[in-house]
Amino acid sequence: MQTVFGIDFGTTNSALSVYRNGSVELLKIDELKGDGLLMRSVLYFNEDDEVFAGQEAVDNYVNDVAAGRFMQSIKTFLPNRNFEGTEVYGRKYGIDDLVAVILRKIKLKGEAAVGYPVDSVVLGRPVLFSEDAEKDALAQSRLEKAARKAGFTQIHFQLEPVAAALSFEESLAAGAEKLVFIGDFGGGTSDFTVMRVKGGAFGRSDRRSDVLAVGGVYTAGDKFDSQIMWEKIAKYFGRGAKYRGMGKSELFDVPHSIIHTLCQWHRVPLLRARKTREQIRLIKNAAVDSKPLENLEQLINDNYGFFLFQAIEKAKCELSNQEQTSIRFSERDLCIAEEMGREEFESINRENVSTIAGCIDETIRQSGVDCAGIDTVFLTGGTSRIPLVRRLFEERFGAEKLETKNAFTSVVGGLGASVPLFT
Ligand SMILES: Nc1ncnc2c1ncn2[C@@H]1O[C@H](COP(=O)(O)OP(=O)(O)OP(=O)(O)O)[C@@H](O)[C@H]1O
Ligand SMILES: [Mg+2]
Repeated sequence: MQTVFGIDFGTTNSALSVYRNGSVELLKIDELKGDGLLMRSVLYFNEDDEVFAGQEAVDNYVNDVAAGRFMQSIKTFLPNRNFEGTEVYGRKYGIDDLVAVILRKIKLKGEAAVGYPVDSVVLGRPVLFSEDAEKDALAQSRLEKAARKAGFTQIHFQLEPVAAALSFEESLAAGAEKLVFIGDFGGGTSDFTVMRVKGGAFGRSDRRSDVLAVGGVYTAGDKFDSQIMWEKIAKYFGRGAKYRGMGKSELFDVPHSIIHTLCQWHRVPLLRARKTREQIRLIKNAAVDSKPLENLEQLINDNYGFFLFQAIEKAKCELSNQEQTSIRFSERDLCIAEEMGREEFESINRENVSTIAGCIDETIRQSGVDCAGIDTVFLTGGTSRIPLVRRLFEERFGAEKLETKNAFTSVVGGLGASVPLFT
């Protein structure tokens, strides 16, 4: 019987499952990180033309921060027509090449585990890569191209929340039938489905009629981080700083585009463009207070965006379990210690949450079932740990209907379980 991999290439984390002999198993892909089942979806290129993925990328970056090029949230670029790729030390990498590096590493790990080559894969994809159908198709074709470059010849796609639903289904007793609302909250996207699931249904081939609705938005963990960066930290790097226009007495704000780019982790490396650096240098020289612009220059030159991101992400995660925390970060003479309470976190993210809430309501509406008709709400993905996200469901469905488990592996498990649908 054929062996097929399931790969969840996530914005933040990736994971691998294998389907063989009629069952699904999760495989380790990053022995340097925790239990090995997740690999951070990051890349690091050093000056010697070597490229690393996952924890090895983080470790190499930590040892050689200023020299190399670190990339995160690469999945976010897939639907971006203007981002075809990037140049690293004179060598051009298409977006598919970047993704292929990660997929190839995962494939090799999986093949080492099973002991033979595997050329078939079910890849997860969000419900919406983009609201623009053309961009959405572009994203999927780039992902497919990346899988081909990684060495896969048979490539199938499954919607991430449907995969999570199949994984939930496996936990049901044989014959138990439920109408379930799935919420998969990741780093890049929040994805939903309303699906009829049935214990013991594993391997049933056509499940299309069981999917009552799907929905998705491009608002998830990264956007929450961006918002914290914007509201609490960007002031240390020029947000709100003023500079004097050349030959004028008028004061100007640091361009919004620079601060906006700074607040999106996957885009920070774009600030390294020579033109942008020159612009920042000129602004610094004309600034009323040059310190924040110096900090910005240092962040770009010393390439420490990832560490700042980690400090912010850590604080965000702490607020899932406690009411109060602080964002702490120091680099050279910059020392940040910003208090943040859960209430403040929720209030600065009001817009993000309302975008998510709108999509949940639309998915329910499309399913044609009202909230009372849903038996269980299954929440998965790292961002589902945020109490405010859970509250959205408690308000609609009642706390007793909520279930969570395997926040980081239910999608990949379900991708493996999707194999019989394609083969
Ligand atoms: N305890 C926590 N509280 C809040 N957020 C968390 C917590 N743990 C992880 N996260 C967030 O969850 C996100 C990662 O989740 P996950 O691994 O499910 O995403 P992904 O699958 O990589 O992304 P996507 O599915 O969007 O492509 C990150 O934004 C991370 O900061
Ligand atoms: Mg995910």
